[in-house]
Amino acid sequence: MSASKLVRPSVEYQDSFLAALREYHEEGHYLYNNIAELRADFKGFVKALRTEKGYPHQPYQEWVEPVPETVTWLVKDGEYLGTADIRHRLNWHLEKWGGHIHFIVRPSKRRMGYGRKILLKAMPIANYLGIETALLTVGPDNQAAIRIIEACGAQFSDELPSTNQFPARRRYWLDCT
Ligand SMILES: CC(C)(COP(=O)(O)OP(=O)(O)OC[C@H]1O[C@@H](n2cnc3c(N)ncnc32)[C@H](O)[C@@H]1OP(=O)(O)O)[C@@H](O)C(=O)NCCC(=O)NCCS
Repeated sequence: MSASKLVRPSVEYQDSFLAALREYHEEGHYLYNNIAELRADFKGFVKALRTEKGYPHQPYQEWVEPVPETVTWLVKDGEYLGTADIRHRLNWHLEKWGGHIHFIVRPSKRRMGYGRKILLKAMPIANYLGIETALLTVGPDNQAAIRIIEACGAQFSDELPSTNQFPARRRYWLDCT
């Protein structure tokens, strides 16, 4: 049995990643990733995720500028367990609702401590990418993520109310140095 680690995406995790994606879809995450298409060209998908300049984070593409992000996968014993996306800088959308670091654990692997591990392991990578203090944003009802963010030492900043476009968000600053 090996320790969990954060790695760049790799084809060796194809089966467990696609199985996890099916679980993510069931809870409404990553619906823009089509499983059959990814299976047909997983190598191309991984190559795009591993681009040197970072994979562009581009939600709401028509009205929010994309920013580069480094995508990392938490893996253990050759299996994909979760993702941490580290955005190299903020745009106005990330400043309010997205933050520098997004993390997610495969639903069938939750409540085993991987959520806390993934954020702890993402902190030095964020620092390596030049982020000294990372912004983390979280829904006020997301007790698991709040526990993790606070346990990692983040300082609460404020809570933004929901708008017509976006849900409410608690914002924290996390020292990654
Ligand atoms: C948030 C998330 C990453 C937590 O992953 P996880 O692997 O279950 O987290 P952990 O096992 O490390 O648990 C962390 C803490 O939250 C608690 N917890 C986990 N799930 C919980 C839940 N549903 N309700 C309340 N507390 C919960 C754990 O008991 C643990 O508490 P402790 O610190 O007192 O021991 C996972 O639920 C997830 O991927 N959610 C969807 C994406 C998301 O919300 N990401 C966060 C964006 S900011």
